[in-house]
Amino acid sequence: MTSIHQENPVEPNPLRALTLDQLRRRTSMKWRTYPQDVLPVWVAEMDVPLAAPVVRAVTDAMTLGDTGYPAGTGYAEALAAFAAGRWGWHGLDTARTAIVPDVMLGVVEMLRLVTGPGDPVVVNSPVYPPFYQFIEHMDRRVVEAPLGPGGRLDLDVLADVFRGLGGGPAAHLLCSPHNPTGTVHTAGELTALTRLAERYGVRVVADEIHAPLTAPGGGFVPYLSVPGAERGLSLMSASKAWNLAGLKAALAVAGPGAAADLARLPEEVSHGPSHVGVLAHTAALSDGTAWLDALLAGLDENRRLLAGLLDRHLPAVRYRPAEATYLAWLDCRALGLGDDPAEVFLTRGRVAVNPGLPFGTGGAGHVRLNLATSPEVITEAVRRMAAAVG
Ligand SMILES: Cc1ncc(COP(=O)(O)O)c(C=O)c1O
Repeated sequence: MTSIHQENPVEPNPLRALTLDQLRRRTSMKWRTYPQDVLPVWVAEMDVPLAAPVVRAVTDAMTLGDTGYPAGTGYAEALAAFAAGRWGWHGLDTARTAIVPDVMLGVVEMLRLVTGPGDPVVVNSPVYPPFYQFIEHMDRRVVEAPLGPGGRLDLDVLADVFRGLGGGPAAHLLCSPHNPTGTVHTAGELTALTRLAERYGVRVVADEIHAPLTAPGGGFVPYLSVPGAERGLSLMSASKAWNLAGLKAALAVAGPGAAADLARLPEEVSHGPSHVGVLAHTAALSDGTAWLDALLAGLDENRRLLAGLLDRHLPAVRYRPAEATYLAWLDCRALGLGDDPAEVFLTRGRVAVNPGLPFGTGGAGHVRLNLATSPEVITEAVRRMAAAVG
């Protein structure tokens, strides 16, 4: 990470830019769900100012009154160039993309293309809780294939689960990199997954929203870049890595063998993203890499900081610094706080982390902490967690 920092010495660490007073003026979910005395290190919003190219793109649109409907393939072209430069993937064909309102609504639409009501959708628990909610809300059936040791895909478990699905239409909603563990799936794991998926007729939909939050050279492999993944579908977005959740826009990408499926996407789905959102995401991907590199260097420092703080103040908590994302998945079972330690941290410590239970099997006794903040906030969060159990 140090070398990345040196490549962009002019870009300051955005995680150190804002004070807590400035952040408390924000009106988004992270800052308005709990009372003022609670320190929020939960939902995946980042405590950063926006990258300058994003601010410029949105400000220019406001100045020009460029607030109509989205047009063209600029977002997809920016993503294709980013994917080529960052991950060495040259196979993203903008003809096989569609803009969608956000990643989760994109996931729903992709699952609708490849499954019907009542069909199973496999997820790798513990996993991002809305996977359960969105799949169930669209009348599909969640089937868990829990992660294996080390938070990695368990290919034997996946094979067993795929085999047991019965051979009808089915999908696997892959989280890559994985939320909450930050696991980056290797090319070998993904290749093995394509073989299983083809063998059992399971369609893979990859949620790759956290992909840019992997260090360059940090091993992120786009699912559709893997031989055998031709029938796969992917969802990508600049929203996590540049903090643009409030500027809705994401991209669905189809492999060559899924182009016909994506072509069936109802046209009105692409009316959902906002034009200003599309402009913001495009600017982030095209011109926001120096800012991203400064962020990634800061996140690396924060992972080391958290590991040190836990060692000192909460040594019973198990934490494996992740390769990607800004999320820390903390195994708190040895603290003896039961299935929901987040409740104890909140009520006794006045610090809000995500409870592990909604992440499904493997979530009990765990919490998720958001590292996309200043070192001071992380230090205070651990102090409060330790005080809650002390
Ligand atoms: C894995 C994953 N998918 C999707 C989302 C939400 O993305 P969107 O707001 O674009 O639906 C998140 C947000 O944290 C996430 O972690």
